[in-house]
Order: sequence, then structure tokens, then C-alpha cells
Amino acid sequence: MSNDNPRHQSRRDFIRAAAATGGAITLGSLPFLAGCESPAPAGRPIDFPDATLDVVASATRNPLRIPPTVSPSGLTLSPAPATLDLGGGQTSPGLAFNGAFPGPTIRATVGQSASIVMQNGLPEGTIVHWHGLVVPHEADGHPIQAVGPGGSYAYQFALAQRAGLSWYHPHPHMRVGRQVHQGLAGLFIIDDPAELALNLPSGPYDIPLVIRDGRLNASGQLEYVDGVSGHPGNTIFCNGVRDATLNVDTNRYRFRILNASNTRVFTMRLSNAAPFILIGNDGGLLPARVSVTSITIGPAERVDVVINFARQPVGTRIMLTSNFNSQNFDLLEFVVTRSITPTGQVPATLSTIPTYQRAAAVRTRSFSFDGAMRINGVSYDMNRIDFRVPFGDLELWRFSNPNTGTNVNHPVHVHGAHFQVISRTGGRGTVFPWERGWKDTVLLTPLETVEVLVRFDHYRGLYLLHCHRLEHEDMGMMSNFEVV
Ligand code: C2O
Ligand code: CU
Ligand code: CU
Repeated sequence: MSNDNPRHQSRRDFIRAAAATGGAITLGSLPFLAGCESPAPAGRPIDFPDATLDVVASATRNPLRIPPTVSPSGLTLSPAPATLDLGGGQTSPGLAFNGAFPGPTIRATVGQSASIVMQNGLPEGTIVHWHGLVVPHEADGHPIQAVGPGGSYAYQFALAQRAGLSWYHPHPHMRVGRQVHQGLAGLFIIDDPAELALNLPSGPYDIPLVIRDGRLNASGQLEYVDGVSGHPGNTIFCNGVRDATLNVDTNRYRFRILNASNTRVFTMRLSNAAPFILIGNDGGLLPARVSVTSITIGPAERVDVVINFARQPVGTRIMLTSNFNSQNFDLLEFVVTRSITPTGQVPATLSTIPTYQRAAAVRTRSFSFDGAMRINGVSYDMNRIDFRVPFGDLELWRFSNPNTGTNVNHPVHVHGAHFQVISRTGGRGTVFPWERGWKDTVLLTPLETVEVLVRFDHYRGLYLLHCHRLEHEDMGMMSNFEVV
């Protein structure tokens, strides 16, 4: 089994790297930073350079757990302070939806409707957004809809979109990073008859995976630092469990994976160099399966993959790893423990997706994600509408990341519609197989420009375009637009 131990970095390296990015550090409460406090220059965000925070793993691994599943009809979701079970007997004070970390997985079939009451049990304002669901403005969890402590918000919406993996998380202005980091996020899965008919791996072989990092302080408690422009953690959680392991049968498994990190990008691989059979992403199944040996996903992106353990001898250990910006660490261990006759299948053709044509776009809009706090030079104002988009028009949106710093990544997210990625120039210079089909979030690493085609033809009203690096979003890298 390959288990590359994370490189350990000295505090001196940290300070050097911080100085290189121009970031000041005011994080004296963190043990590894004690003694290097200095105030941030006014108006300048403080940065945690990703490269300075290594993920550390303990020697023992803890069984993966699967979040409880609930129906969206008549559901009460209550975000509140809770004691989080981090696995391995370790707990931390944090925040949880209905006491669960991550929150319960909401699962429904297309055509059903959702009636959900969010009951705010936090000591501060919040609102819940259904990331990936196309719903009316009133049900979208826009920050102007935030309710105070003890308040509630009633959501009513139809599940009118194809099968896919979406998720939910808080969206109050300037508090998203903290609330998500402290434990508030859960999955929202829609099934549909066309997907069920494919006989993909199901039941115990269909496993949702919320993968994220988090910062544990010296006493092992989740700790969020406000006012930073990025928040890489030192510990990986899979479905809330640190250093997780999963016993698998000699079978095909479907893993629906969400990167629920505030900031961190993962490039996933299997330690035995076996391929992932990529079948879907943000907006559901791809037209056809694709075999890939690595997948890069930024915060909020999802991928749906099948891993085939059918030919592995019992006793085999395989690690799902990540390396990005030359940081290597483990995400999840698989141990083959039982030999069975394989079930499920992965057909070559999975779904039909109409292709948007560039020539059909009626206008182009360009958005520059410069620095950490602005889009096109403007910081978010909840009460200002930045642009208006005619209902039903196909538009070309061009997102660019002019930043050169190796760590300045922007996972760009659009509410209210899914889009199709048509080009990437600069940086990695290509559109990857996991970016085909329908997307709602696309990653921009330094110097990249990505073009997408988007059409808002479901609902009129106020929606959001923002960076999903939660610290950038909280600092104002977000715009309001109205579909008119
Ligand atoms: Cu997942 Cu506007 O966010
Ligand atoms: Cu969203
Ligand atoms: Cu950003």
C-alpha cells in the first residue's frame, strides 16, 4: 500500500511562504503559528498559502460512515451547535444539521416536491442554499433571505431536474466559510427512472462521499480563523470521519464525490494506479463513461465515478490520494475484505445531453476574478443588482483568473442554471473529461480563462455568481444578477 507521508514543513518555511505572497499573519491562537502575530495591512486580506499547511494523518484509520438519508417532503433542517463525532473516538464542538456531520443526505425522485423548514438554531443569522438545484429565487437561499437566531425559513419547490448529486450549505453573507468549516453541509441526491434503468451499482455499492479538509487546533478541535483569504485545513474528513477506511467487496462501487472544502483543491488518484470510470459530475450523468487515472476538483465540484475492485484479491489495500501544488496526502483507504460475484454494470452510453452551440450565443459577458474580494473590480453588495440577464437567451460567459500566485484558485459557481464549459485557455489549457456535460461550478487555476455557455430558462428573479472558495465569497467575490 502506498501511503506517502505528508512532507512536514517548518514554521520558518511557513513564514517565508507567507511573506512571498505578501500575506500578513494574525493567527496567534493557532499552535503552529504562536508567536508570529502581526496586524494585516488595512484593506488587504490575510492569506494562508496552501503550500504551508500540510495535511497530517494519524496511524490508525477509522471506519467510514454513511450519513443518514431523509426525504425532502416535510423535512425540518435545524443547523445548531453540536458535538461532532470525528471518528476514532474523537469529538469536537462544531455545528451540525440535525446533529449529523455531515448533514443528512436528502434523497428524492424527480417529480417529487420539497417542503423543508430551516429552523435556525445558531446564535447568528443563516440561510440554506441548495447547491446544484434549480429552484425559484424564493427557495434559493439568497443571503438577503437570512434569518436570525430562532428564526425559520420555509422552502417549497419542485424537483424538476435530471438525476444528479447536489448539496446544501449555509449562505449568509460573510459567514459561509465559518459555518461550513464548522460542520454545516449535506448532500441532496435526485434519482430518475432513466438513470435507474441503467443498473449502475446501487444499494450498498452506491456510496456518497463528502470529502473535505478542516483545521484542528492543538486540542483536536475544529477551529476557524476569520478574515483570511483561504482556509486550508490540516486534517481530511470523509463523511465527517478523519483518516477513514472502507471495507469493500470484490465488486464495482459507485462513489458520488463532493469536494466540500472551503479552499482546497484535490487531484485524486488511486494508489494502485487503477482508473476511475468517470460517469457524471455536477449536473448528473455524462453522455458516455470515460476512464481517467486522475481527477481534479475544486471546492463545490462533484464527480460520480465507478471503481472496480472485482479483480482485487481479498486483503488488498488501495488508497484514494490527492496531490495538488505538490502536496500529497491520503483521502480514503479501501480494504478488499470479501469475495462476491460482481453486480451492477456501467454501460458505455449513459445519457443524452443537448449541446449548446457557441454560434448560438446572443451575447458575451466577461468576468475577471482578480485578487480575492472582487469580480470586475467590484465587491459584493447584497442590495445592488450587478447585471440583468434576459430569460431564455443563450449567453457566453467568460471567466478569467488574472492572478499569478500558485495558490489563487477560483471555483466559479452560478446559481439558477447549469452551464456547459466550452474552452479553457492559459494555465492548464484544456477542458477535462469531468468538465463535460452539465456543470454549476468550474475551477480557474492561475492565468486561466474559461468560457461557458449558459441559458436561464427556468425561473426569473435574483441569483448569484460567485467564487466558491468560501473565504473569497465571504470577502465579496460575488455578484447579484437578475433573470428578467
Ligand atoms: Cu454552494 Cu452560492 O453556493
Ligand atoms: Cu449554488
Ligand atoms: Cu476566488
